[in-house]
Amino acid sequence: MARRADPPAVPALYAFVQPGLETVAADEITRDLQGEVKRTDRGSVVFRMDEITPEVLKLRTTEDVFLLAWGSDSLTYKAGDLETIKRWTAKKADWANLFRLHHSVRPKTKGKPTFHLVCQMQGEHGYRRVDALDAMADGLAGFVPAGWVPAEENAWLEIWLTINGKTAVCGVRLSDRTMRHRTYKTDHVAASLRPTVAAAMVRLAGIGPGMTVLDPMCGAGTILAEAVALCEQRRIREVRYLGGDIDANAVFCAGQNLGRRGAIEPEKWDSTELPVPRRVVDRLICNPPFGKQLEKPEDIPELYDNAVAEWDRVLKPGGKAVILVSEMDALKEAIRPHEWRPLKQMRVRVLGQPAVLSVWQKPE
Ligand SMILES: C[S@@+](CC[C@H](N)C(=O)[O-])C[C@H]1O[C@@H](n2cnc3c(N)ncnc32)[C@H](O)[C@@H]1O
Repeated sequence: MARRADPPAVPALYAFVQPGLETVAADEITRDLQGEVKRTDRGSVVFRMDEITPEVLKLRTTEDVFLLAWGSDSLTYKAGDLETIKRWTAKKADWANLFRLHHSVRPKTKGKPTFHLVCQMQGEHGYRRVDALDAMADGLAGFVPAGWVPAEENAWLEIWLTINGKTAVCGVRLSDRTMRHRTYKTDHVAASLRPTVAAAMVRLAGIGPGMTVLDPMCGAGTILAEAVALCEQRRIREVRYLGGDIDANAVFCAGQNLGRRGAIEPEKWDSTELPVPRRVVDRLICNPPFGKQLEKPEDIPELYDNAVAEWDRVLKPGGKAVILVSEMDALKEAIRPHEWRPLKQMRVRVLGQPAVLSVWQKPE
C-alpha cells in the first residue's frame, strides 16, 4: 500500500513589537491566541500555533506578524553572508506551504497576484541592504509563481528579510498596516500614542467588570479606544470610561475617534483639577506629555506633582495606575508622598525616545 505523505508542517511565526513590550505581547499570544512562545528578543517574539488561522491578525500589542521561512543568529557581518542568505532562502523554507498558509489567512480579492520583497537592515555590515535584498531574491528564484507581478505598493504578498546585527529572519508577512494603525484612529494629535503601546498599557492595567477607567490626559483617545476594544474582546462588562484633555483640539479628536468605539464623551479639563469625585477610579491609564513636548520642559516636575496628587484623590484605595513617561525620576518624586506601591517597570521606546512604562498600586 502506498504510504500517505505527511501533511506539511505548521511553520513558526514571529511578531515585531515595540522594543520593551515583548513580555506583554508574549502574554497576549499565550493567553488570547493560545500560542506557544518559543523565544523573545528585543523587538520580536517567536511563537507557534497548532494551526494558522486569521485569529492571529487580531493581536493588538504586535506591530506585524510573519510566517517564519528561516532564521539565524550566525551572520558574520562579512560579504559572505550574501551567499548564505541566498542558500538559506533557497533551501531552508517550504515556500509552497508558506504561500498556501498565507493565502488561507489573506485570500486574494481581485486582479493579478502581486508580491513585494522587503529588506530591513540594522548594524554595520560589509554589504548594503540592497545586496541582501538581491541575495534573498536570487534564493527565491523558481519559488515565486511566474504569474505573480512585482508591486511596490499594497502588494498582496510580502516577503521580508530583517537583519539586526548577526541575527536574520526571513518570512511571509501575514499582517498589513491595519495591525498597527487602527481603523478607528482617523483624527490625530501631535505626540499621539501608537495603538500597540496603548494596547499594552491597557493589558497591564488588568481591567475587570464594573470598573471605572480614567485617562486624564487622553490626547486623541488611543488608550480609551484600546480599553474598549480589549473589554469587548474579553466580554468584560459594565466598564465606565472617563477621559479628557486640557487641549480643546485633542478633546475634539478623541471624540471623533471614540465616537466609533462606544459611549465615551471626552471632556475638556485640567488633569490637576479633575471634575471627578474622590475614590471612584479603579484604573488610571495615562501618557502625560514628555518634557520635549512642552514649551518649557522644566515645568515637568511641577505638572507631575500636581497631576499625581489629583490622581491620588480620584483613585480608589487599592486602585492601579499605568503611566508612560520619559522623565521617570520626576514621576517617582511626584508619587513618593502618596506611597503608591511599584508593581512593574519596563523600558520602552516611544516616538524614537527612551521612556518608562510603570504600573503602581495605591495603598488599601
Ligand atoms: C503625550 S499626549 C497624550 C497622547 C494620548 N495618549 C494619545 O494617544 O493621543 C499628552 C496630552 O496631555 C495633555 N495635557 C497636558 N497637560 C495637561 C493637563 N494639565 N490636563 C489635561 N491634559 C493635559 C496634552 O494636551 C496632550 O494631549
